[in-house]
Amino acid sequence: MYQPEPFKIKMVEPITLLARPEREKCIAQAGYNPFLLRSEQVYIDLLTDSGTGAMSDRQWAGLMLGDEAYAGSRNFYHLEETVQSITGYRYVLPTHQGRGAEQIIFPHLVRGGKKYVLGNMHFDTTKAHIELAGARAVNFITPEALDTTTDYPFKGNFDLEALERFILEHGAETIAAIVTTVTCNSVGGQPVSLANMRGAYALGQKYKIPVIIDSARFAENAYFIKQREEGYAQRSILEIVTEMFSCGDALTMSAKKDGLVNIGGILAVKEDEELFRACQALVVPYEGFPTYGGLAGRDMEALAIGLKEVVQEEYLRQRIGQVEFLGRQLQQAGVPVQSPVGGHAVFVDVGRILPEMPKTQYPAHAFAVALYIESGIRAVEIGSLLYGRDPQTGEDGLAELELLRLTIPRRTYTDNHMRYIADAVIRVCEQKEKIKGVAFEYEPPILRHFTARFRLVD
Ligand code: F0G
Repeated sequence: MYQPEPFKIKMVEPITLLARPEREKCIAQAGYNPFLLRSEQVYIDLLTDSGTGAMSDRQWAGLMLGDEAYAGSRNFYHLEETVQSITGYRYVLPTHQGRGAEQIIFPHLVRGGKKYVLGNMHFDTTKAHIELAGARAVNFITPEALDTTTDYPFKGNFDLEALERFILEHGAETIAAIVTTVTCNSVGGQPVSLANMRGAYALGQKYKIPVIIDSARFAENAYFIKQREEGYAQRSILEIVTEMFSCGDALTMSAKKDGLVNIGGILAVKEDEELFRACQALVVPYEGFPTYGGLAGRDMEALAIGLKEVVQEEYLRQRIGQVEFLGRQLQQAGVPVQSPVGGHAVFVDVGRILPEMPKTQYPAHAFAVALYIESGIRAVEIGSLLYGRDPQTGEDGLAELELLRLTIPRRTYTDNHMRYIADAVIRVCEQKEKIKGVAFEYEPPILRHFTARFRLVD
Protein backbone atom coordinates (compact mmCIF):
# COMPACT_ATOMS: atom_id res chain seq x y z
CA MET A 1 0.00 0.00 0.00
CA TYR A 2 1.20 3.52 -0.77
CA GLN A 3 2.76 5.09 2.33
CA PRO A 4 2.57 8.87 2.52
CA GLU A 5 5.04 11.01 4.48
CA PRO A 6 4.91 10.09 8.21
CA PHE A 7 4.71 13.75 9.25
CA LYS A 8 2.59 16.81 8.69
CA ILE A 9 4.02 20.18 7.84
CA LYS A 10 3.85 22.96 10.43
CA MET A 11 6.09 25.59 8.87
CA VAL A 12 6.90 26.28 5.23
CA GLU A 13 9.71 28.03 3.38
CA PRO A 14 8.54 29.47 0.05
CA ILE A 15 10.57 28.64 -3.05
CA THR A 16 10.38 30.50 -6.36
CA LEU A 17 11.05 29.37 -9.90
CA LEU A 18 12.69 32.19 -11.82
CA ALA A 19 11.75 32.65 -15.47
CA ARG A 20 13.98 30.82 -17.96
CA PRO A 21 15.84 33.96 -19.25
CA GLU A 22 16.63 34.81 -15.61
CA ARG A 23 17.96 31.31 -15.00
CA GLU A 24 20.15 31.58 -18.10
CA LYS A 25 21.53 34.87 -16.79
CA CYS A 26 22.10 33.52 -13.27
CA ILE A 27 24.03 30.45 -14.35
CA ALA A 28 26.18 32.51 -16.76
CA GLN A 29 26.98 34.93 -13.91
CA ALA A 30 27.86 31.92 -11.74
CA GLY A 31 30.49 30.87 -14.29
CA TYR A 32 28.35 27.86 -15.26
CA ASN A 33 29.06 26.35 -11.86
CA PRO A 34 25.94 25.51 -9.81
CA PHE A 35 28.02 25.78 -6.60
CA LEU A 36 28.31 29.51 -7.30
CA LEU A 37 24.57 30.14 -7.59
CA ARG A 38 22.83 31.92 -4.73
CA SER A 39 20.29 29.66 -3.14
CA GLU A 40 17.45 32.12 -3.94
CA GLN A 41 18.19 31.49 -7.60
CA VAL A 42 17.50 27.77 -7.11
CA TYR A 43 14.00 26.24 -7.21
CA ILE A 44 14.73 22.74 -5.90
CA ASP A 45 18.14 22.25 -4.31
CA LEU A 46 19.61 18.78 -4.76
CA LEU A 47 23.24 19.74 -4.21
CA THR A 48 23.51 17.71 -1.03
CA ASP A 49 21.62 15.93 1.74
CA SER A 50 24.13 17.32 4.24
CA GLY A 51 22.70 19.72 6.80
CA THR A 52 19.81 20.54 4.47
CA GLY A 53 17.06 18.45 6.08
CA ALA A 54 14.13 19.54 8.25
CA MET A 55 14.21 19.03 12.00
CA SER A 56 11.16 17.75 13.85
CA ASP A 57 9.10 19.80 16.32
CA ARG A 58 10.77 17.77 19.12
CA GLN A 59 14.19 18.81 17.89
CA TRP A 60 13.17 22.47 17.67
CA ALA A 61 11.81 22.18 21.21
CA GLY A 62 15.16 20.65 22.20
CA LEU A 63 16.91 23.82 21.00
CA MET A 64 15.15 25.69 23.79
CA LEU A 65 16.69 23.32 26.34
CA GLY A 66 20.24 24.23 25.41
CA ASP A 67 22.61 24.29 28.36
CA GLU A 68 25.36 26.56 27.11
CA ALA A 69 27.86 25.78 29.86
CA TYR A 70 31.42 25.72 28.57
CA ALA A 71 32.06 22.46 30.42
CA GLY A 72 29.74 19.64 31.43
CA SER A 73 26.63 20.73 29.53
CA ARG A 74 23.57 18.60 30.27
CA ASN A 75 23.02 18.25 26.51
CA PHE A 76 26.43 16.62 26.12
CA TYR A 77 25.44 13.89 28.57
CA HIS A 78 22.17 13.33 26.72
CA LEU A 79 24.11 13.03 23.46
CA GLU A 80 26.74 10.78 25.03
CA GLU A 81 24.11 8.38 26.44
CA THR A 82 22.27 8.29 23.12
CA VAL A 83 25.41 7.50 21.11
CA GLN A 84 26.49 4.89 23.66
CA SER A 85 23.14 3.14 23.55
CA ILE A 86 22.89 3.13 19.73
CA THR A 87 26.49 2.16 18.98
CA GLY A 88 27.71 0.31 22.05
CA TYR A 89 30.81 2.58 22.02
CA ARG A 90 32.09 3.83 25.33
CA TYR A 91 33.82 7.12 24.51
CA VAL A 92 32.02 9.97 22.74
CA LEU A 93 33.34 13.33 21.51
CA PRO A 94 31.16 15.88 19.71
CA THR A 95 32.73 17.69 16.73
CA HIS A 96 31.50 20.54 14.55
CA GLN A 97 30.84 18.19 11.61
CA GLY A 98 32.15 14.97 10.06
CA ARG A 99 35.45 16.36 8.87
CA GLY A 100 36.06 17.72 12.38
CA ALA A 101 36.09 14.11 13.60
CA GLU A 102 38.35 13.11 10.69
CA GLN A 103 40.94 15.77 11.45
CA ILE A 104 41.11 14.54 15.05
CA ILE A 105 41.45 10.80 14.50
CA PHE A 106 43.60 10.39 11.38
CA PRO A 107 46.78 12.02 12.74
CA HIS A 108 46.72 9.38 15.53
CA LEU A 109 46.23 6.47 13.21
CA VAL A 110 48.78 7.54 10.59
CA ARG A 111 51.97 7.25 12.63
CA GLY A 112 55.17 5.27 12.84
CA GLY A 113 55.74 4.26 9.21
CA LYS A 114 52.09 3.68 8.41
CA LYS A 115 51.37 4.65 4.82
CA TYR A 116 47.92 3.47 3.81
CA VAL A 117 44.30 3.79 4.85
CA LEU A 118 42.12 1.22 3.11
CA GLY A 119 38.43 1.81 2.42
CA ASN A 120 35.50 0.50 0.44
CA MET A 121 35.41 3.98 -1.18
CA HIS A 122 36.58 7.00 0.78
CA PHE A 123 34.54 10.20 0.73
CA ASP A 124 36.59 13.17 -0.53
CA THR A 125 37.09 14.96 2.82
CA THR A 126 38.08 11.64 4.38
CA LYS A 127 40.62 11.14 1.60
CA ALA A 128 41.85 14.71 2.13
CA HIS A 129 42.38 14.16 5.89
CA ILE A 130 44.14 10.85 5.29
CA GLU A 131 46.47 12.61 2.85
CA LEU A 132 47.02 15.59 5.17
CA ALA A 133 48.04 13.11 7.87
CA GLY A 134 50.64 11.73 5.43
CA ALA A 135 49.07 8.49 4.19
CA ARG A 136 47.49 7.31 0.95
CA ALA A 137 43.79 6.47 0.73
CA VAL A 138 43.21 3.28 -1.26
CA ASN A 139 39.78 1.95 -2.32
CA PHE A 140 38.66 -1.68 -2.53
CA ILE A 141 35.09 -1.37 -3.72
CA THR A 142 33.40 -4.46 -5.09
CA PRO A 143 33.64 -4.43 -8.93
CA GLU A 144 29.82 -4.65 -9.27
CA ALA A 145 29.61 -1.05 -8.02
CA LEU A 146 31.22 0.31 -11.16
CA ASP A 147 28.62 -1.19 -13.48
CA THR A 148 25.51 0.95 -13.02
CA THR A 149 23.33 -1.54 -14.93
CA THR A 150 23.57 -4.54 -12.59
CA ASP A 151 21.14 -4.89 -9.69
CA TYR A 152 23.65 -6.06 -7.08
CA PRO A 153 22.10 -5.48 -3.61
CA PHE A 154 25.27 -4.39 -1.76
CA LYS A 155 27.29 -2.26 -4.12
CA GLY A 156 28.96 -0.56 -1.14
CA ASN A 157 30.76 -3.80 -0.19
CA PHE A 158 34.50 -4.22 0.02
CA ASP A 159 36.24 -6.58 -2.34
CA LEU A 160 37.56 -8.45 0.70
CA GLU A 161 39.96 -10.63 -1.27
CA ALA A 162 41.62 -7.61 -2.86
CA LEU A 163 41.75 -5.96 0.58
CA GLU A 164 43.55 -8.91 2.16
CA ARG A 165 45.89 -9.26 -0.83
CA PHE A 166 46.94 -5.61 -0.38
CA ILE A 167 47.56 -6.12 3.33
CA LEU A 168 49.73 -9.17 2.63
CA GLU A 169 51.64 -7.47 -0.21
CA HIS A 170 52.38 -4.26 1.69
CA GLY A 171 52.63 -5.66 5.22
CA ALA A 172 50.08 -5.06 7.97
CA GLU A 173 52.53 -2.72 9.71
CA THR A 174 52.15 -0.19 6.85
CA ILE A 175 48.35 0.02 7.18
CA ALA A 176 47.04 2.74 9.50
CA ALA A 177 43.36 1.79 9.38
CA ILE A 178 40.49 0.28 7.45
CA VAL A 179 37.56 2.67 6.89
CA THR A 180 34.11 1.20 6.26
CA THR A 181 31.82 3.88 4.84
CA VAL A 182 28.09 3.19 5.35
CA THR A 183 26.28 3.78 3.08
CA CYS A 184 29.02 4.25 0.52
CA ASN A 185 28.36 7.78 -0.76
CA SER A 186 30.95 7.82 -3.54
CA VAL A 187 29.38 4.89 -5.42
CA GLY A 188 25.81 6.14 -5.10
CA GLY A 189 24.71 5.80 -1.47
CA GLN A 190 25.01 2.03 -1.79
CA PRO A 191 24.79 -0.20 1.29
CA VAL A 192 27.38 -2.48 2.82
CA SER A 193 26.08 -5.85 4.04
CA LEU A 194 26.63 -6.99 7.59
CA ALA A 195 28.44 -10.06 6.28
CA ASN A 196 30.86 -7.76 4.47
CA MET A 197 31.28 -5.42 7.46
CA ARG A 198 32.03 -8.47 9.59
CA GLY A 199 34.55 -9.66 6.99
CA ALA A 200 36.38 -6.32 6.99
CA TYR A 201 36.42 -6.30 10.79
CA ALA A 202 37.74 -9.87 10.91
CA LEU A 203 40.62 -8.79 8.65
CA GLY A 204 41.26 -5.83 10.94
CA GLN A 205 41.42 -8.13 13.95
CA LYS A 206 43.55 -10.74 12.19
CA TYR A 207 46.17 -8.17 11.18
CA LYS A 208 45.72 -5.83 14.17
CA ILE A 209 44.51 -2.92 12.05
CA PRO A 210 41.88 -0.61 13.58
CA VAL A 211 38.55 -0.42 11.72
CA ILE A 212 36.82 2.97 11.61
CA ILE A 213 33.19 3.25 10.55
CA ASP A 214 32.43 6.39 8.54
CA SER A 215 28.82 6.44 9.60
CA ALA A 216 27.19 9.52 8.06
CA ARG A 217 24.29 7.39 6.71
CA PHE A 218 24.32 4.50 9.18
CA ALA A 219 20.53 4.25 9.59
CA GLU A 220 19.92 4.19 5.83
CA ASN A 221 22.47 1.37 5.58
CA ALA A 222 20.65 -0.55 8.33
CA TYR A 223 17.34 -0.19 6.51
CA PHE A 224 18.82 -1.73 3.36
CA ILE A 225 20.22 -4.62 5.43
CA LYS A 226 16.76 -5.24 6.85
CA GLN A 227 15.28 -5.25 3.34
CA ARG A 228 17.96 -7.21 1.52
CA GLU A 229 20.19 -9.33 3.75
CA GLU A 230 19.10 -12.82 4.64
CA GLY A 231 18.22 -13.27 8.29
CA TYR A 232 17.56 -9.59 9.09
CA ALA A 233 13.95 -9.02 7.96
CA GLN A 234 12.60 -9.58 11.48
CA ARG A 235 15.28 -7.59 13.30
CA SER A 236 14.70 -4.00 14.43
CA ILE A 237 16.68 -1.15 12.85
CA LEU A 238 18.26 -0.46 16.22
CA GLU A 239 19.46 -4.05 16.56
CA ILE A 240 20.95 -3.95 13.08
CA VAL A 241 22.63 -0.59 13.78
CA THR A 242 24.19 -1.94 16.96
CA GLU A 243 25.44 -5.00 15.11
CA MET A 244 26.91 -2.78 12.37
CA PHE A 245 28.86 -0.75 14.92
CA SER A 246 30.12 -3.94 16.57
CA CYS A 247 32.16 -4.34 13.33
CA GLY A 248 34.41 -1.39 14.14
CA ASP A 249 36.80 0.03 16.74
CA ALA A 250 35.82 3.69 16.33
CA LEU A 251 33.44 5.82 14.32
CA THR A 252 33.39 9.20 12.68
CA MET A 253 30.00 10.66 11.87
CA SER A 254 28.79 13.61 9.88
CA ALA A 255 25.62 14.15 11.91
CA LYS A 256 24.35 16.47 9.15
CA LYS A 257 22.94 13.40 7.42
CA ASP A 258 21.42 10.68 9.64
CA GLY A 259 21.77 12.86 12.76
CA LEU A 260 18.90 14.88 11.23
CA VAL A 261 20.52 18.19 12.17
CA ASN A 262 21.89 21.13 10.22
CA ILE A 263 25.33 21.02 11.82
CA GLY A 264 27.21 18.52 13.97
CA GLY A 265 29.53 15.54 14.06
CA ILE A 266 30.68 12.75 16.34
CA LEU A 267 33.85 10.84 17.04
CA ALA A 268 33.37 7.75 19.20
CA VAL A 269 35.74 5.00 20.29
CA LYS A 270 34.55 1.54 21.27
CA GLU A 271 36.99 0.66 24.06
CA ASP A 272 40.55 1.71 23.19
CA GLU A 273 41.20 4.17 25.99
CA GLU A 274 44.58 5.21 24.64
CA LEU A 275 43.10 6.18 21.26
CA PHE A 276 40.29 8.03 23.01
CA ARG A 277 42.71 9.98 25.24
CA ALA A 278 44.79 10.93 22.21
CA CYS A 279 41.69 12.16 20.35
CA GLN A 280 40.42 13.98 23.43
CA ALA A 281 43.71 15.88 23.61
CA LEU A 282 43.44 17.01 19.97
CA VAL A 283 39.76 17.87 20.11
CA VAL A 284 40.53 20.76 22.46
CA PRO A 285 42.71 22.86 20.13
CA TYR A 286 40.81 21.96 16.94
CA GLU A 287 37.15 21.73 17.94
CA GLY A 288 36.67 22.85 21.53
CA PHE A 289 36.40 21.51 25.07
CA PRO A 290 35.51 17.76 24.96
CA THR A 291 31.93 18.28 26.19
CA TYR A 292 31.01 20.60 23.30
CA GLY A 293 33.50 20.00 20.47
CA GLY A 294 32.47 23.04 18.43
CA LEU A 295 28.73 22.67 18.99
CA ALA A 296 26.33 24.79 21.01
CA GLY A 297 24.55 22.91 23.81
CA ARG A 298 21.27 23.31 21.89
CA ASP A 299 22.80 21.69 18.80
CA MET A 300 23.83 18.66 20.85
CA GLU A 301 20.28 18.39 22.20
CA ALA A 302 18.78 18.47 18.68
CA LEU A 303 21.30 15.83 17.61
CA ALA A 304 20.53 13.51 20.52
CA ILE A 305 16.84 13.67 19.57
CA GLY A 306 17.60 13.28 15.83
CA LEU A 307 19.59 10.11 16.43
CA LYS A 308 16.57 8.55 18.13
CA GLU A 309 14.21 9.61 15.32
CA VAL A 310 16.38 8.35 12.49
CA VAL A 311 16.29 4.72 13.60
CA GLN A 312 12.49 4.64 13.45
CA GLU A 313 11.43 2.32 10.69
CA GLU A 314 8.47 4.37 9.44
CA TYR A 315 10.79 7.34 8.97
CA LEU A 316 13.29 5.25 6.98
CA ARG A 317 10.60 3.58 4.88
CA GLN A 318 9.41 6.94 3.58
CA ARG A 319 12.93 8.35 3.27
CA ILE A 320 14.37 5.50 1.21
CA GLY A 321 11.01 5.03 -0.52
CA GLN A 322 11.00 8.64 -1.74
CA VAL A 323 14.45 8.35 -3.29
CA GLU A 324 13.39 5.07 -4.89
CA PHE A 325 10.20 6.72 -6.20
CA LEU A 326 12.30 9.30 -8.04
CA GLY A 327 14.66 6.62 -9.34
CA ARG A 328 11.82 4.45 -10.58
CA GLN A 329 10.27 7.26 -12.61
CA LEU A 330 13.61 7.87 -14.31
CA GLN A 331 14.21 4.17 -14.94
CA GLN A 332 10.74 3.75 -16.43
CA ALA A 333 11.52 6.57 -18.87
CA GLY A 334 14.78 4.86 -19.87
CA VAL A 335 17.14 7.27 -18.06
CA PRO A 336 20.25 5.32 -16.98
CA VAL A 337 20.73 5.52 -13.20
CA GLN A 338 22.89 3.65 -10.68
CA SER A 339 20.80 0.61 -9.91
CA PRO A 340 19.48 -0.30 -7.44
CA VAL A 341 18.87 3.29 -6.39
CA GLY A 342 20.86 4.30 -3.27
CA GLY A 343 19.77 5.71 0.06
CA HIS A 344 20.21 9.46 -0.23
CA ALA A 345 20.38 10.21 -3.91
CA VAL A 346 19.66 9.08 -7.44
CA PHE A 347 22.86 8.96 -9.47
CA VAL A 348 22.22 9.52 -13.18
CA ASP A 349 24.82 7.83 -15.39
CA VAL A 350 25.48 10.76 -17.74
CA GLY A 351 28.42 8.88 -19.30
CA ARG A 352 25.79 6.67 -20.92
CA ILE A 353 23.56 9.60 -21.95
CA LEU A 354 26.38 11.61 -23.55
CA PRO A 355 28.92 8.95 -24.58
CA GLU A 356 30.38 11.16 -27.32
CA MET A 357 31.19 14.12 -25.11
CA PRO A 358 34.90 14.10 -24.08
CA LYS A 359 35.39 13.51 -20.34
CA THR A 360 37.45 16.71 -20.28
CA GLN A 361 34.27 18.63 -21.14
CA TYR A 362 32.73 17.12 -17.95
CA PRO A 363 29.48 15.64 -19.32
CA ALA A 364 27.75 15.29 -15.94
CA HIS A 365 28.55 18.90 -15.04
CA ALA A 366 27.30 20.00 -18.47
CA PHE A 367 24.09 18.07 -17.75
CA ALA A 368 23.77 19.85 -14.37
CA VAL A 369 24.01 23.24 -16.13
CA ALA A 370 21.35 22.20 -18.67
CA LEU A 371 19.11 20.90 -15.87
CA TYR A 372 19.31 24.20 -14.00
CA ILE A 373 18.41 26.14 -17.13
CA GLU A 374 15.53 23.79 -17.91
CA SER A 375 14.02 23.59 -14.43
CA GLY A 376 15.77 25.64 -11.73
CA ILE A 377 16.97 22.37 -10.12
CA ARG A 378 20.51 22.36 -8.72
CA ALA A 379 22.30 19.00 -8.85
CA VAL A 380 25.96 18.09 -8.56
CA GLU A 381 28.56 16.33 -10.70
CA ILE A 382 30.34 13.28 -9.31
CA GLY A 383 32.74 12.54 -12.15
CA SER A 384 35.95 13.72 -13.78
CA LEU A 385 35.54 17.32 -12.60
CA LEU A 386 35.31 16.26 -8.94
CA TYR A 387 38.02 13.62 -9.39
CA GLY A 388 40.60 16.20 -10.45
CA ARG A 389 43.92 15.78 -12.24
CA ASP A 390 46.55 13.16 -11.60
CA PRO A 391 48.94 14.99 -9.23
CA GLN A 392 52.01 13.57 -11.00
CA THR A 393 51.11 13.77 -14.70
CA GLY A 394 48.42 16.49 -14.68
CA GLU A 395 46.24 14.19 -16.76
CA ASP A 396 42.52 14.98 -16.66
CA GLY A 397 39.24 13.15 -17.38
CA LEU A 398 40.05 10.19 -15.18
CA ALA A 399 36.87 9.23 -13.33
CA GLU A 400 35.48 5.80 -14.13
CA LEU A 401 31.91 7.07 -14.06
CA GLU A 402 30.42 10.43 -15.05
CA LEU A 403 27.53 10.71 -12.59
CA LEU A 404 25.04 13.43 -11.76
CA ARG A 405 23.89 13.25 -8.14
CA LEU A 406 20.27 14.22 -7.43
CA THR A 407 20.64 14.37 -3.65
CA ILE A 408 17.43 14.36 -1.64
CA PRO A 409 17.40 16.32 1.66
CA ARG A 410 15.56 14.56 4.50
CA ARG A 411 11.90 15.48 5.24
CA THR A 412 12.20 18.56 3.02
CA TYR A 413 10.55 17.95 -0.35
CA THR A 414 7.33 16.09 -1.16
CA ASP A 415 6.64 13.39 -3.72
CA ASN A 416 5.27 16.12 -6.01
CA HIS A 417 8.72 17.68 -6.04
CA MET A 418 10.05 14.25 -7.04
CA ARG A 419 7.63 14.21 -9.98
CA TYR A 420 8.82 17.63 -11.09
CA ILE A 421 12.47 16.53 -10.82
CA ALA A 422 11.84 13.38 -12.84
CA ASP A 423 10.01 15.30 -15.58
CA ALA A 424 12.84 17.84 -15.80
CA VAL A 425 15.59 15.21 -16.05
CA ILE A 426 13.60 13.33 -18.70
CA ARG A 427 13.11 16.55 -20.73
CA VAL A 428 16.85 17.31 -20.63
CA CYS A 429 17.56 13.77 -21.83
CA GLU A 430 15.08 14.18 -24.69
CA GLN A 431 17.02 17.24 -25.87
CA LYS A 432 20.46 15.85 -25.12
CA GLU A 433 21.96 16.90 -28.44
CA LYS A 434 21.55 20.52 -27.28
CA ILE A 435 23.72 20.01 -24.14
CA LYS A 436 27.00 21.85 -24.45
CA GLY A 437 30.21 20.71 -22.77
CA VAL A 438 32.14 23.12 -20.52
CA ALA A 439 35.73 24.37 -20.50
CA PHE A 440 37.58 26.10 -17.66
CA GLU A 441 37.86 29.86 -17.50
CA TYR A 442 39.37 29.48 -14.04
CA GLU A 443 40.66 26.19 -12.61
CA PRO A 444 41.58 26.25 -8.92
CA PRO A 445 44.60 24.10 -7.97
CA ILE A 446 42.77 21.96 -5.38
CA LEU A 447 39.13 20.93 -4.84
CA ARG A 448 38.52 22.68 -8.13
CA HIS A 449 34.83 21.82 -8.54
CA PHE A 450 33.73 24.16 -5.72
CA THR A 451 35.00 27.43 -7.13
CA ALA A 452 35.87 26.79 -10.80
CA ARG A 453 34.41 29.00 -13.53
CA PHE A 454 33.55 27.75 -17.00
CA ARG A 455 32.38 28.74 -20.46
CA LEU A 456 30.15 26.65 -22.69
CA VAL A 457 31.90 24.84 -25.54
CA ASP A 458 30.30 25.16 -28.99
N1 F0G B 1 31.86 11.02 5.18
C1 F0G B 1 30.88 10.87 4.25
C2 F0G B 1 30.50 9.51 3.78
C3 F0G B 1 30.25 12.02 3.73
O1 F0G B 1 29.30 11.87 2.80
C4 F0G B 1 30.63 13.29 4.21
C5 F0G B 1 30.00 14.51 3.69
C6 F0G B 1 31.63 13.37 5.18
C7 F0G B 1 32.22 12.21 5.65
C8 F0G B 1 32.11 14.69 5.74
O2 F0G B 1 31.20 15.20 6.62
O3 F0G B 1 30.47 17.33 5.53
O4 F0G B 1 29.95 16.84 7.93
O5 F0G B 1 32.25 17.36 7.26
N2 F0G B 1 29.27 14.55 2.67
C9 F0G B 1 28.54 15.67 2.13
C10 F0G B 1 27.95 15.31 0.80
C11 F0G B 1 29.27 16.96 2.12
O6 F0G B 1 27.42 16.23 0.12
O7 F0G B 1 27.96 14.15 0.39
P1 F0G B 1 30.95 16.79 6.84
